[in-house]
Amino acid sequence: VCLALFLGLIFMVLFEIFRINSRRGQIPPGPRPLPFVGTIPSFKKPLEAFRSLSQYGEISAVYIGRKPVIILNTIQVTKEAFVQEAFSGRPFMPLVDWLSKGLGIAMVTFGHSWRQQRRFALHTLRNFGLGKKSVEDRVLEESRYLIAEMLKAEGKSMNPQHDIQNAVSNIICSIVFGERFDYDNKHFSYLLKILSDHFMLSGTTAVQILNLVPFIKHFPGPHQKIMQNFTELLGFIRNEVREHKETLDPDSPRDFIDAYLLEIEKQQKSNEGSTFHEENMVMSALDLFLAGTDTTATTIRWGLIYLIQNPDVQERCHEEIVRVLGYDRLPSMDDRDKLPYTYATVHEIQRCANIVPFGVAHETTQPTKLRGYDIPKGTVIMTNLAAIFSDKKHWKHPDAFNPENFLDENGNFFKPESFIAFSLGPRVCLGETLARTELFLYITSLLQRIHFSWPSEPQTIDMDGVMGVFHFPQSFNIICRSRDTKE
Ligand code: HEM
Repeated sequence: VCLALFLGLIFMVLFEIFRINSRRGQIPPGPRPLPFVGTIPSFKKPLEAFRSLSQYGEISAVYIGRKPVIILNTIQVTKEAFVQEAFSGRPFMPLVDWLSKGLGIAMVTFGHSWRQQRRFALHTLRNFGLGKKSVEDRVLEESRYLIAEMLKAEGKSMNPQHDIQNAVSNIICSIVFGERFDYDNKHFSYLLKILSDHFMLSGTTAVQILNLVPFIKHFPGPHQKIMQNFTELLGFIRNEVREHKETLDPDSPRDFIDAYLLEIEKQQKSNEGSTFHEENMVMSALDLFLAGTDTTATTIRWGLIYLIQNPDVQERCHEEIVRVLGYDRLPSMDDRDKLPYTYATVHEIQRCANIVPFGVAHETTQPTKLRGYDIPKGTVIMTNLAAIFSDKKHWKHPDAFNPENFLDENGNFFKPESFIAFSLGPRVCLGETLARTELFLYITSLLQRIHFSWPSEPQTIDMDGVMGVFHFPQSFNIICRSRDTKE
């Protein structure tokens, strides 16, 4: 029996090698996969490994298990693909399906429900802030709280993670739930902690294995912790919904939840095929809360690292800000043109932090073609931001932190076409305008008022960071000192 099993195994492996080889030429080139396992698990340093895929040309392929995944290595081919609806689906992932039951916005495949939910969320994001400029006011108000909070520990070694995460989250919370939370609110701090754990754990290899072998969800493992965290985050949203129902005034919706409750009522009367129901509301609100918190907060944390490591850039930004605004006037989005170096620095932070280095996976919704390759329906497509953001043809200083990457020869800000941190096409980041407002206003007002340094020099920071769902920096401590306003 053992011999038969052994021979059977050998036969299966040989067959698999034959299958992979026979498809060469039909599938873009890439590193040779291991039978059944694929390519990804053999990556030790994921960022470097991804970047190196550009050696195979504009398009390459890796294998996740037995399935080829197409990697878009340049801005041109990413644009060509992502503007098309045929490339705008999302792959089915057992972990995501287990958690979100196919509801919400971010992980839902292209179709009627996604379109309705996305459109509604965009519309309410605009109405409860962006269009009326009041999101800008909220960020500025919050930046005052953030500066005060960070300076409470002036001169002492402190980890800025919680303060930044809380400040950023308060903006999406005020849009979605109509409230902000104080930095010492224990329950909210706990939620932010499990939110980060959620993104960290969901990106681990152990959890990726669950996507390949879904039945392991019934066994102990990190995925159980993810489910537990997710249930607690859902509990928070459901509680908000319950409170909103009790206090809803139909003539004066306060936020996303109120607007959604009214939309459910409206659609129930008029539209039988409506995708507006309470579970979709809960999941969409959770998507906004999750996507609207750790993305921007993680970018700002990377920003502090780059600014401390490059004190000349930190000083030049500070000088520019003080020259234009003084110490007391807070920045506004209209100041971007007057602060080209600072604005360029904010973009350079995003390029170097590269918090979503492989993008968010897309899937083809129909058979299609790309650069001569036939791409079947249901093929997973990823964009290689790790390669695009360090492409020597497109960046003046691809391998260094240097705001000159976003400045022209006259010192004016310009955005190279390769800068697609928010992706593009029908799936482009829904929170792009919000995130850009937060990044510019928070970073500018912090640099106006605070000088950042390491607690002791020299500090060794692992710039590879940690890969979860996002590219996180490792935990670090800093020293904040108030800028002397009479400097
Ligand atoms: C999707 C980046 C902030 C909400 C995405 C995608 C990227 C991205 C790369 C995937 C696009 C694609 O599939 O091609 C970022 C970055 C941010 C940021 C770098 C901050 C620095 C935000 C914020 C929100 C948000 C503040 C809150 C509203 C979303 C949602 C999606 C998304 C809901 C899913 C869109 C869809 O599937 O239709 N983001 N994002 N993001 N983002 Fe952001």
